[in-house]
Amino acid sequence: MPAPPTMPTIAPSIIASDAGRFAACAEEAFDAGAEWLHVDVMDGHFVPNITVGPDVVEALSSVAHGHEAKLGVHLMIEDPQRYVGAFADAGADVLTVHVEACPHLHRVSEQIRDAGCEVGVALNPATPLGHLEGILPFVDLVLVMSVNPGFSGQSYIAESTAKVQRLRRRLNALGSDAHLEVDGGVQPGNAMELLRAGATVLVAGSSIFGGDQSVAQNIEAFRSALTLEV
Ligand code: DX5
Ligand code: ZN
Repeated sequence: MPAPPTMPTIAPSIIASDAGRFAACAEEAFDAGAEWLHVDVMDGHFVPNITVGPDVVEALSSVAHGHEAKLGVHLMIEDPQRYVGAFADAGADVLTVHVEACPHLHRVSEQIRDAGCEVGVALNPATPLGHLEGILPFVDLVLVMSVNPGFSGQSYIAESTAKVQRLRRRLNALGSDAHLEVDGGVQPGNAMELLRAGATVLVAGSSIFGGDQSVAQNIEAFRSALTLEV
């Protein structure tokens, strides 16, 4: 496989940090050079966990935008069209909805764009890429879930790499410059594999905010892993 052209963006997933210190943890990530923050919104229905709503997103948006960083909001909720306005008003730059939660995905995509956000669509591990076919020309980002959504700290599903490769080929064939984001179990050990497969944004939760090392050391571990072979 040829060498990858660029370094992907590392997007720390704040939900994996200390819930009592989200803003401080986000600051640590930005101080270490993160340019993109990933916020997971879970409703206890679409996924078996509950996290944060627009108020917390708004607080994190101030922190992110204060550092000229991007705020990606990953909506793991049913009927996401009900909340597009609220999360756009809260300061989301990219709003990502799940294909599995949207029977009217094209309409929701237009709603997101009309609200002033970039449009992201996410696929669960068991959902085939074919479900994206009609929507790919309209999106700014595709998120490939590489764990079953709901929790940080799960193991990467190895088959996800081949899915990323197939999606990369499809985006290239369409001439799309949409971001290809991978979320779940991403760590320095599989970052290069994902970069080579065609990912442009790597979401990382426990590998940035967990363990004994500092956030800065963990981000540096990604940088080293991604530059070793380039
Ligand atoms: C899982 C979330 C992820 C999660 C990633 O449902 O969408 O963003 O926080 O955490 P890690 O990197 O620990 O798998
Ligand atoms: Zn996520």
